[in-house]
Amino acid sequence: MVLTISDTASAGDREDLSGPEAKRILQEAGFDVAPVEILADERDHIESRLRRASEEDYRLVVTSGGTGLSPRDVTPEATLAVIDRQVPGIAELMRLESFKITPRAALSRATAGIRQSTLIINLPGSVKGVRECLVAVRPILAHAIEVLKQSSLGCGE
Ligand code: MTE
Repeated sequence: MVLTISDTASAGDREDLSGPEAKRILQEAGFDVAPVEILADERDHIESRLRRASEEDYRLVVTSGGTGLSPRDVTPEATLAVIDRQVPGIAELMRLESFKITPRAALSRATAGIRQSTLIINLPGSVKGVRECLVAVRPILAHAIEVLKQSSLGCGE
């Protein structure tokens, strides 16, 4: 699923173009993607949506926005609060590839990790940032999801 995290988009003051772009890239890669949801930059709302997404058995949650330096940017903190384990290589890969394009990549505090069998990845808020970061990690997504799916089998129930 794709979660756009933006005060302005959630208030309807700005059209969300980043979420649909993430959805398009994931669909192009062969994933079934639920309709994009938009949340304000509210840490508790983000945390509860991420927890619920994992209970709803989403395999992949991609967030867009709220990774920068402004006081309202809390997506990484919300993500870190709900994940069981970080997957640092995913954020490292996004930044590595993004640095080749813009030094401003250093301004995204994006993180990635797993909660139960759900992989959560933060992307920056701009359409350009979404595209560049998602294209960077796209080659490893299917394998990551497959491994998580297998590890969730045999857990009973
Ligand atoms: N990463 C890539 N690949 N391309 C970009 O254009 N923009 C940067 C950074 N990461 C960018 C990027 C900028 S300008 C900012 S401020 C941060 O992401 C944080 O963005 P966010 O607060 O919208 O999440």
